[in-house]
Amino acid sequence: MKSRAGHWDQIFSGTEDDQLGWYEASAAPTLALMATVPGWQSSTVFLPGAGTSVLIEELLSEGVPLVLNDISRTALEKLKKRLGVRGSAVHWLCQDIAQSLPSDLPPVDIWVDRAVLHFLIDEADIEGYFTNLRSTLRRGGYALFAEFSKEGAAKCAGLDLHRYSVEELSSRLGDAFELKAAFDHTYINPGGDPRPYIYALYKRTGSDGFSPG
Ligand SMILES: C[S@@+](CC[C@H](N)C(=O)[O-])C[C@H]1O[C@@H](n2cnc3c(N)ncnc32)[C@H](O)[C@@H]1O
Repeated sequence: MKSRAGHWDQIFSGTEDDQLGWYEASAAPTLALMATVPGWQSSTVFLPGAGTSVLIEELLSEGVPLVLNDISRTALEKLKKRLGVRGSAVHWLCQDIAQSLPSDLPPVDIWVDRAVLHFLIDEADIEGYFTNLRSTLRRGGYALFAEFSKEGAAKCAGLDLHRYSVEELSSRLGDAFELKAAFDHTYINPGGDPRPYIYALYKRTGSDGFSPG
């Protein structure tokens, strides 16, 4: 059986970026939410499962410091090539986001996940993901999620999904996170198929004993 990383490597090595089933020519819905975060342009942003998203250039052009994670080395290599010298300012991190993150990461101000969390199916992986978020995101920081909603497709990239409601995201984050905004967004994939997403932005207002600072 192919490994999780091998599955994604194969997709990225065999597909042009603009033909990926989650490709968006503009990350406008994500940027609209990010723009509501005070001082977002000077915030350190962590992208789990960054893939080859155009959001990365959109953030780099604003001078946003980035930590880019992906389980797929192929995706990160493609992205590095595309960014050229602009990639030298990026903190790169190739690993499974469900596994413990290294301790030398810079404190993160905004965690931005589009279409990554919903691929984690096992409860231990989901818990590992949220433990990483809590240990990385500073108090006062923000977490932004764009995941397949309960009305969304049951599979993507050949994998089963765990679809989300705002209620479930809130409950998994716990009382230390305050919901600031949420909306439904129907993304149309390159095949022309509608894919309903839920977008939600949280502020980490409280302390739950995990925060890096
Ligand atoms: C549907 S794509 C979304 C990519 C990007 N966030 C975007 O919006 O274009 C999912 C991404 O998550 C990565 N990924 C999947 N499982 C992962 C995991 N457990 N840890 C880190 N990255 C993962 C994949 O390699 C892929 O780049």
